[in-house]
Amino acid sequence: MRMDRSFRALQVDKDRAPALGRVDASTLAQGDVWIRVAYSSLNYKDALAVTGRPGVVRRYPLIPGIDLAGEVVQSDSPAFAPGDQVLVTGYGIGEEHPGGFAELARVAAPWVVPLPGGLTPRDAMVLGTAGLTAMLAVEALERHGALADPKPPLVTGASGGVGSLAVAVLSAMGHPAVASSGRPEAAAYLGRLGAGEVIGRIEPASRPLSSQRWGGAVDVVGGDTLAAVLACTAHGGAVAACGLAGSSQLCTTVFPFILRGVALLGIDSARCPYDVRVEAWNRLARLVPPATMALVGREITLDDVVSASEDLLAGRVRGRVVVNVGG
Ligand SMILES: NC(=O)c1ccc[n+]([C@@H]2O[C@H](COP(=O)([O-])OP(=O)(O)OC[C@H]3O[C@@H](n4cnc5c(N)ncnc54)[C@H](OP(=O)(O)O)[C@@H]3O)[C@@H](O)[C@H]2O)c1
Repeated sequence: MRMDRSFRALQVDKDRAPALGRVDASTLAQGDVWIRVAYSSLNYKDALAVTGRPGVVRRYPLIPGIDLAGEVVQSDSPAFAPGDQVLVTGYGIGEEHPGGFAELARVAAPWVVPLPGGLTPRDAMVLGTAGLTAMLAVEALERHGALADPKPPLVTGASGGVGSLAVAVLSAMGHPAVASSGRPEAAAYLGRLGAGEVIGRIEPASRPLSSQRWGGAVDVVGGDTLAAVLACTAHGGAVAACGLAGSSQLCTTVFPFILRGVALLGIDSARCPYDVRVEAWNRLARLVPPATMALVGREITLDDVVSASEDLLAGRVRGRVVVNVGG
């Protein structure tokens, strides 16, 4: 496939509005694999980067987009050849390296994951970092034994990207979750994803320990929600902490840990080891059926990324947003 000297991309720069335009291919960072990006996706981190919020972009100017999927067009690594269908998530793309909101990406070969069998690049981006994170969180609970508890698992921020996919994955594994969402109108959607019960947002805990309601939990909210989730987790259970959609603070007591043996498990999808990530992607591809992809994913183009980012941060986005980069 021919590689153009310039490509279309969305770029952010300090103290400037994001700009959609052509970028010279020579500006791409070092890397031994060039990928024609077909699809990217919009994650919480991307929305922060695109709207100029601090904490994500590590150098300017930058092409955001922590996820991408497409076709290898050139490779200096024997591990990949032109025509290979691949995906990349994390490893600092869209944060310190140019990311997926562009027609062309250049990345290090050790970051590149072959597209799992059965997935299209679009499917891979419906899942994206959110799907990988949900899978890693559920696997952490599984390893801990928390899914063996007769009490169901809890998922917070359930109508968001990570939350929706955690509900879907848990259901596919035979563990219908209690889905906690601040959006009552998402109840039918969460039911179709396989939630066993839909509840409102978790209220802050009034006591260090409350009645034991769930065997384990996937939490994307952090803050008082995470503290309350810990206080209601069953003896021997575990909570996989994934996010900070509510707050990055955690004010709790040690009682869930020392009186109930509850474990707090940290999830980092961006730097998770390559073999773990490949296995998680393959498992995700087996567990999430096409009907779920269709239900969860909404498609936009690069032209829509800025407004969709505002919507995501304002809590107006349900499920996942895939970005058709060629569209
Ligand atoms: N650890 C990792 O590797 C990793 C990877 C991906 C994402 N994350 C983090 O996980 C979090 C979720 O990411 P996402 O892509 O799923 O984002 P998202 O699609 O925006 O979903 C977040 C959900 O959290 C809930 N929420 C938002 N604000 C809230 C608040 N103030 N209080 C309580 N609930 C609130 C909402 O769900 P309801 O309306 O249904 O309540 C929202 O849909 C983010 O903090 C992100 O940075 C971490």
